[in-house]
Amino acid sequence: MKQQLLVKRENEFSYPIVFCRDFSDLAGCIQELYPDRRSACVITDSNVAPLYLNEVLEALSAVCGKVVSYVIPAGEENKHLTTVADIYRYLIREGLDRKSFLAALGGGVTGDITGFAAATYLRGIDFVQIPTTLLSQVDSSVGGKTGVDVDQFKNMVGAFHQPRLVYMNLSTLSTLPEEEFICGMGEIIKTGLICDEEFFRYCEGASGRIRRLEPDAVLHLVSTCCEIKAGVVERDPKEKGERALLNLGHTIGHAVEKKMNFTLKHGQCVGLGLLSAARISVNKGTLTEEEFGRIRKVCREYGLPEKVQGLTEEEILEASRKDKKMDRGQIRFILMRGLGHAYMDTSLTADELRAGIREILV
Ligand SMILES: NC(=O)c1ccc[n+]([C@@H]2O[C@H](COP(=O)([O-])OP(=O)(O)OC[C@H]3O[C@@H](n4cnc5c(N)ncnc54)[C@H](O)[C@@H]3O)[C@@H](O)[C@H]2O)c1
Ligand SMILES: [Zn+2]
Repeated sequence: MKQQLLVKRENEFSYPIVFCRDFSDLAGCIQELYPDRRSACVITDSNVAPLYLNEVLEALSAVCGKVVSYVIPAGEENKHLTTVADIYRYLIREGLDRKSFLAALGGGVTGDITGFAAATYLRGIDFVQIPTTLLSQVDSSVGGKTGVDVDQFKNMVGAFHQPRLVYMNLSTLSTLPEEEFICGMGEIIKTGLICDEEFFRYCEGASGRIRRLEPDAVLHLVSTCCEIKAGVVERDPKEKGERALLNLGHTIGHAVEKKMNFTLKHGQCVGLGLLSAARISVNKGTLTEEEFGRIRKVCREYGLPEKVQGLTEEEILEASRKDKKMDRGQIRFILMRGLGHAYMDTSLTADELRAGIREILV
């Protein structure tokens, strides 16, 4: 199985997203990209290194010049400039030059850090993504957003820097903790709701096969989701319009994430945010009660939470208003018009938001 999708970019290089069941095509893909045997540094985290680093190093060594690796401690708390500075020091020590490239092997944290290091080291070098979590495969590895957190503020510093290749070995999902898989599903369901009703229906119908990680089902799930996201990103690379729709479920989702002190994972909060946005859409008359029920059911089937405990309506409202997706003081809120269509609303009242928040409170 090797399936390929090409992300086309105006006035710039296009890059392939390759879907495989193992790492056997990786060397070939790199050789095609860099026939001149460049030097590479694989950056991975402390959980992923023991699982997949050797195999990836072996593949790259066959087709690259010098190949080195750097292991960062796993966890969002390390997505900081200090980790990036440690990487710079290592790259300098190892003598990586402008023609070298970085390879991000791991989840979204590794991808964001590596992409940012690549965007800034020597004013920018190439990088490739080898995402190993469901979330990074369907979301963070596609689109070229890279960055790090500053103190407790997420993704405050970063750069747009597109990878030259995204290589997905879908069988890496077999070692992923279930909770992480569920988080990826939050973003996947969101993607279907934004612009593809048929894909949403697929998520509804194939939940058993997807949860059992049946290879064909996972391939269809991940590749279709990437195709949809890549389409949105191609049409709006710098988030001037349509790309903002990808924030569906994220305003209230981020607020819950923050107010729960990050004890609930991002994808779980997105799931809650989707339910809130769906309730507001029902109240606005753009979504039916039956469609709302289908969204709740699919979230439940994949193990996403439906309620959050210990928070009040007012604190979530307050945090939602502080979310950075604001337009001159007014929240840019994404709502649904039926299943598979999202739209932006900039005129929601506090009461309309409260009704959405109440949906997810016990
Ligand atoms: N750049 C973007 O467009 C974008 C989009 C969405 C999210 N993000 C970012 O992505 C990050 C979240 O990504 P994530 O959920 O992948 O988190 P993550 O990178 O922390 O990975 C989750 C956990 O799974 C482990 N892991 C990774 N692959 C594994 C595997 N195959 N088997 C076993 N364990 C494995 C990791 O070590 C980690 O402990 C956040 O920092 C978020 O801001 C970025
Ligand atoms: Zn998200």
